[in-house]
Amino acid sequence: AYVVTDSCIRCKFMDCVAVCPVDCFYEGENMLVINPDECIDCGVCEPECPAAAIAADTAPEAGPWIALNAQYAALWPNIAEKKEPPADAAQWMDVADKFESAFS
Ligand code: SF4
Ligand code: F3S
Repeated sequence: AYVVTDSCIRCKFMDCVAVCPVDCFYEGENMLVINPDECIDCGVCEPECPAAAIAADTAPEAGPWIALNAQYAALWPNIAEKKEPPADAAQWMDVADKFESAFS
């Protein structure tokens, strides 16, 4: 499966949602996650993300996010249509270690 990484946090552009053929994205307040049981590994979403937040679960940067995507996909509501990104999304594009600000 593909996973959403911390680069999504507070960017939440949702271009990924618009292209996913199986609607397997789930929405938290600050980021989205992918349900690994529903993702069909098509890879279409990866190049669509302006924040480069999506990776295959075999990629090095995916490591810590694999469990988190599975965990929160079971808790958060499904999102099947792109919404308006946060007004300050662009400001968070190059910020590192955003996990701390979103989950603490
Ligand atoms: Fe959806 Fe394909 Fe991305 Fe999986 S890889 S989340 S199926 S667009
Ligand atoms: Fe997040 Fe990128 Fe989708 S910022 S909401 S993974 S398009």
